[in-house]
Formats: sequence, C-alpha cells, structure tokens
Amino acid sequence: MSLLSELVIALLAEFVDGLDNAAAARVELPDDLATVLGQPPPEQPTGLPALLDTVRQAADHAVETAGPRFFGYIPGGGLFVSALAELLAQTLNRYTGLSDIAPGLVALEDGVLRWLCQLFGLPPGAGGLLTTGGSMATLSMLVAARQDRLGDSVPLGIPRGATVGSAPGTIYVSEQTNHCVRKAARIAGLAAAQVRTLPTTAELRIDVDAAAAMIAADRAAGLRPFLLVATAGTTSAGVIDPLVELAALARRHEMWCHVDACYGGFFQLTERGRQRLAGIEQADSISLDPHKSLFLPYGTGVLLVRKISALAAAHTDDADYLPDLHGGALPDFAHLGAELTRGNRGLRLWLPLHLHGVQAFRAALDEKLDLAHWAHTELSADDRLEVPYPCELSTVLFRLRGSNTRDGDNEAFLRRINATNRVFLSGTRLDGRLTLRLCVLSHRTHARHVHEAVSIIREFVESIP
Ligand SMILES: Cc1ncc(COP(=O)(O)O)c(C=O)c1O
Repeated sequence: MSLLSELVIALLAEFVDGLDNAAAARVELPDDLATVLGQPPPEQPTGLPALLDTVRQAADHAVETAGPRFFGYIPGGGLFVSALAELLAQTLNRYTGLSDIAPGLVALEDGVLRWLCQLFGLPPGAGGLLTTGGSMATLSMLVAARQDRLGDSVPLGIPRGATVGSAPGTIYVSEQTNHCVRKAARIAGLAAAQVRTLPTTAELRIDVDAAAAMIAADRAAGLRPFLLVATAGTTSAGVIDPLVELAALARRHEMWCHVDACYGGFFQLTERGRQRLAGIEQADSISLDPHKSLFLPYGTGVLLVRKISALAAAHTDDADYLPDLHGGALPDFAHLGAELTRGNRGLRLWLPLHLHGVQAFRAALDEKLDLAHWAHTELSADDRLEVPYPCELSTVLFRLRGSNTRDGDNEAFLRRINATNRVFLSGTRLDGRLTLRLCVLSHRTHARHVHEAVSIIREFVESIP
C-alpha cells in the first residue's frame, strides 16, 4: 500500500510543482489517446506506473483549472490539503447519512456547518448540508422552500404549454441568476412559466421596485409567489443584488428568500466582503461553493438554512430497513438532502480550515479583491478598452471600445489572448454584447500572474483591426 501511495504522491507533487508555469489550456484530445482512454478494463492486471501515466496524459488535455493562469468562468484552484482530506475520508469510508452509524465524523461535519451558520449570522435553529456543489444545494433549497411555503396541498406542476395563469406557485429570478435555479425548478417539476424573470438595473442588480410590482401583480392574478432568489456575486459579472431590500420584499409577501452566494459567499471572511454582503444574514437559505471562493477541489457545495426543520420536512422519509434513530443532537444528513448513501464531506473543509487556520483564507481572499481591483483600474485606464461595470468582487469585465465593435471582434480578441496559452479567460453576453471576463479567484493566482494577464490583454488590443 505504501508503494502505491508513494507513486501517486510523487505524481501529484510533480503536477503541483509544475502548475506555476503550466500551459493555460491544452484541450485538443488526439484520436489515438482518446482510443486508449476509452478501452474497457482488461482481464489481467496492469502495473500502477503505466496506469498513472495514462491518468497523467488524460489530465494533461484540459484547461488548467488548477493553475494560477485560470481566469475563466469562476476559478477555485483545488487545495492539496483538501485532496488529502478526501483520501482520508474515502479510506476511512464512514457512512455519514445517519448519525448513529458514524457519530464522530458526523459531529466533525456538523461542526463545520455550525461554523458556517455563525459566519453568516444565522440564528439558533439554523443548520445545513454539504453537497456536491451549488446546483445540488439549489435543488434541495427549492424543494424545501416549496414545501415550507406551499405545503403538500397545492398542485405543484402544471402541464407543458400551460399559461402562467394556471400556475399556482411561482419563483423569481433575474436574467443574471445562475441557470442552476431554472434547472432545479424543472427537475422539481415546475413548468417554465412558474419561473418569473425580474428586470435588472443598469448595474445588473435586481430592480427592487420592478420586482415588487411584478410580485404584487402576480398575486393579484391568483399566483402564489413562494421563492425569491437573490445572488451575491453573479456568475457573469460578480454583482451583488440588493440583499436587504430583497429580504424585506420577500418577507412582506411571506416568500422564502434564498441568497445564491456560490461565488461571493466566502468573501464574508473579509472586512470588505462583509460590508458588501450585508443583509445576507436575513436570508431563509444561502448556497455556497467552497470549490470556488474557498479554493477547494471540485465537488464541494453547501446549503445553509435558517430553519433546518424546513429542510428536514422536505427530505425526511423512513423505511423498514433503516435503523431506529436515537433522536440525538447530531443531524441525519440523509434526511436533509437527496442522497441516502454519502461519504464524509466534512473532512475536505475541516482539515484545510484547521491546518491553515481561517486567517490564511481571509488573507488569500483579500489578496484576490486587491488583484482584481488593480486589474480593473489598469484596464479602465486603457482608452482602447471599454470597462463597462465596476468590480464589486473579483471579476473584471472589458471589451473593445467603439460603438461599431462587433461580437466577432471581441471573439477574435479573446481567442488571441487565450492562444498565448499563458492565460485562460472566458466571455459572457452583457447588454447583448460579448464581453470578456477576467475572474481572479484561484489561491495559486498572485500579482505576477495578474500582471502578465493585463500585459497580454494590452498587447492584443492592438491586433484587432
Ligand atoms: C452564482 C452561482 N450559483 C450557482 C452555481 C452553480 O454551482 P455548481 O457549479 O457548483 O453546481 C454557480 C456556478 O458557477 C454560480 O456561479
């Protein structure tokens, strides 16, 4: 076993050591390699060195999402210590769906969740669930909100093609809301017409007055608005919706208020972040993605709920083959989410938080705010570029200046920047125009990487006619 572990750790050490200078992306997968990778398992064993070589080759063909040059979408990085925690969790292989089966590791995971509830100012009675990501957290939130506000008595789904007038329960998002909410609604059986899209202001925030008017009109028309989703750090622009006003609006209409803080949530650890996220403590639920702003490896999401009993009401069921629960103080995670069998997800947060200390995360997040602010200032000063939005968190948006600039020009601009293979940026559509994004969020990204990204952007502005 130790020889096997040594080989794996040696590969990982080499990989991590090489990240600083690794190509930003290498996504073409050669046909012959694809054929090798798709082979079925053989009857006879293969040596680990050869298999690790195959894994390394497979991983090499990818956007380097673990590296410091990844500024696309929403980076995270993947803390190595968290991966070690995962190795521990998987080897210990404790069943943490029901607290009676592994009370120790459930207590540890519960400790992480209670710390998070405290961080976001949620009151006693709050609790949460660690999920695989923001999308799964959103799905559980949505069914809990529906159960809590509408109960079982209201017909929930409406036939395909039905008009909004026949939809009893409606939810409210904006065009900047992550599409996982719309997807969760569909999975949960809501029709498209039950998802209402609120207008946004010129700054891309939900327009509170327009939201109030739409919700009031929907109620007057016989609909039952039950969920309002605000975002604390939108995916495209990193913008924070007016959390205090939206919580008040939801309260007035007895709606569940959810804050999607998957991107921006962990900036709550910093002084600046706390100020910008003021009002989040009033939410009925909050979704977070430690695999974004806590730098953890992919596969770690969080749902925090003000009234954990509401999450339990939507997910608890019993079965003859399940043990009689002692009804103790520890949560039964299988009764708070969709999964019955689950491993321990707490260790992947607990180990890095305890080993590095919370201050290390606070400092890293402050560094990302500073770096993004610096890039925003630099790009704003370049009169060949248009920088249309402020940088509220760590996303900088820019495009070629000029009213006659076409999407094709900005597309070519993005392609040329990424073709250097020194950085990877992504684009999005804002005001109907393709806009480039530089999102600073990997724990491995430091000043030298952001400086290089900005000089590459400057260099290629010239190349577009
Ligand atoms: C604001 C926001 N919410 C939710 C999600 C979905 O989370 P996940 O990809 O972890 O399922 C994302 C993903 O980028 C996001 O940016």
